[in-house]
Amino acid sequence: TLDVDASSSVAEIAPTMYGIFFEDINFAADGGLYAELIKNRSFEFDSPLMGWEQPKSDRHSYNKNSGIAVPVKYSQQQTNHNFIRVKIKDASGYKLINKGFRGIGVHENENYRLSFLASNDAGGVTHVHFKLVDENGKVLGSSSVKVSKGDWKKYQTEFNSNATVEKASLEITFSGQGDIDLDMISMFPENTWKNRENGMRKDLVQLLADMDPGFLRFPGGCIVEGRTLAERYQWKKTVGPVADREILFNRWNTEFSHRSTPDYFQSFGIGFFEYFQLAEDIGATPLPILSCGIACQFNTGELVPMDQLDPYVQDALDLIEFANGSVDTPWGKVRADMGHPEPFNLKYIGVGNEQWGPDYIERYKVFNDAIKEQYPDIIIVSGSGPFPDGDYYEYGMEQLTKIGAEIIDEHYYKSPEWFRENADRYDSYDRNGPKIFAGEYAAQSVAIASPENENNWECALSEAAFMTGLERNADVVQLTSYAPLMAHTEAWQWTPDLIWFDNLSSYGTPNYYVQKVFATNRGSDLLKVSAKGEKLIGQNDLYASAVKEDSTSEVIVKVVNTASSSKSIKFNIKGVKTGKNAEQIVLASEDLKAMNSIENPKNIAPETTKVNVQKGVQLSPYSVNVFKLKIEK
Ligand code: AHR
Repeated sequence: TLDVDASSSVAEIAPTMYGIFFEDINFAADGGLYAELIKNRSFEFDSPLMGWEQPKSDRHSYNKNSGIAVPVKYSQQQTNHNFIRVKIKDASGYKLINKGFRGIGVHENENYRLSFLASNDAGGVTHVHFKLVDENGKVLGSSSVKVSKGDWKKYQTEFNSNATVEKASLEITFSGQGDIDLDMISMFPENTWKNRENGMRKDLVQLLADMDPGFLRFPGGCIVEGRTLAERYQWKKTVGPVADREILFNRWNTEFSHRSTPDYFQSFGIGFFEYFQLAEDIGATPLPILSCGIACQFNTGELVPMDQLDPYVQDALDLIEFANGSVDTPWGKVRADMGHPEPFNLKYIGVGNEQWGPDYIERYKVFNDAIKEQYPDIIIVSGSGPFPDGDYYEYGMEQLTKIGAEIIDEHYYKSPEWFRENADRYDSYDRNGPKIFAGEYAAQSVAIASPENENNWECALSEAAFMTGLERNADVVQLTSYAPLMAHTEAWQWTPDLIWFDNLSSYGTPNYYVQKVFATNRGSDLLKVSAKGEKLIGQNDLYASAVKEDSTSEVIVKVVNTASSSKSIKFNIKGVKTGKNAEQIVLASEDLKAMNSIENPKNIAPETTKVNVQKGVQLSPYSVNVFKLKIEK
């Protein structure tokens, strides 16, 4: 029997309790969420023609007799450094090909928008032709654009695809003869999330929205820090016109790479404005994380000297102005010019990711003082170092507590057993100390970030057991998120991941559904739940937490059964009267190795039934259960 005390609220559950953490790892942004289909559209990768092919006449050279594309640097220094000059000698023999990010995924009967910049000084080239072809060369859609003589101009066209193809290519051919300069060759589906031109993939945003996330942490992760300070994420370079956003090497480019991804760069087509907009779209509180002046300590750990920290701190202050400032402020105006005069209502800002030691504390204090002086209401999220058992964890916690830090971000990538055994992690946590953000966690079926890790049911079930502990301690734990969020099935660097996708489709893992059932049944108030007077933290392989949801007048009890046998339980609800009928949402599988996949996306997915709670209810072997009991007047 589970005793649930609904007579009083232990604590309010923070609306931010269950959120999401987005990082451009595993092609999550470029090649994933960002709906751009052309790789290296602006010829800015380290090797400017990476991603572009020209048919070769022999083993060594392009078909120079018909034409060649060569990268050229703009004469004036600008953020978009290169364009290409296509020299057409015999247009009938020349083409330029882009195969997208592991192929271009197109859907039958969908419209695609193409745009490019061209400068056609001599006017010898008269037309640019676009052809979308499948792997056998079959034409899926095409369009021709007449180019006028003259300086840089933007051209647009569109076409429809006559078939669904996962790995199409875009072929570009020309009419006429002579040189033509091209840049920003871009292709988007018309059907993006909210039909935005610089849009996001609809299926992926929908999966995020369905989780009803309380917050969106962005843009990382290690990419915030960079391998070196020069490669850190600088938000100011990610706002304003898309063509002017300076491309940056992605810190996940090849390292840790099980599959080689040397073609991984950040186009910043999704920049800070788009992150804030995404957060707003899906009803999540934005939580940006900024560099604290230390490059990734797993790499160089490069430090900005203390007397040169000001620009980093200024970036934080300016970001608050960008998000919240009136349109009359310089950064508020940038936001307004991008189409969002209303503030984004930023409440949280993170300083550093997984940084540790005295170097971090010294820098954190400067950020803390500056932000609090100008924006006392902004809540600062600080980091405790990489893992709760890392060398500097105790030191960081002690120092940050001393400074009066409000929220500390803890990360844990551990075994499934660790998650089951640590459901009581926060039971003994100092109630007067900083609040906790469990900012990155995921059970690792083999070892941390091992390429063999699986998003299997054992991992998801163990995370659910642990999450009852997060929820039972909702007075201390105020934000939580799984990591990493997304991965392309052919271009990932890290496993496990919450959502997987290819060029056409996507699916939520069992871990996704665990997150979803917790987040969509968050509750407004924490209740005490016990069995024989004790918290349920693994006795008889059972874990439990309980909440009340005021808006729907429900008592919601989450019970996780990690045993291989089914269990029968009863509820004893005190303080309110509940009806005999309840809803039971179940996630279960008797196969701990079971997973979801592109072919079988809902192998493990929640099922809802009506149950009579008076008679007692069944918990299937290895199951996550959410019981929703209506409170009667
Ligand atoms: O989620 C993957 C990485 O794990 C994040 O970038 C980093 O914060 C952590 O080490």
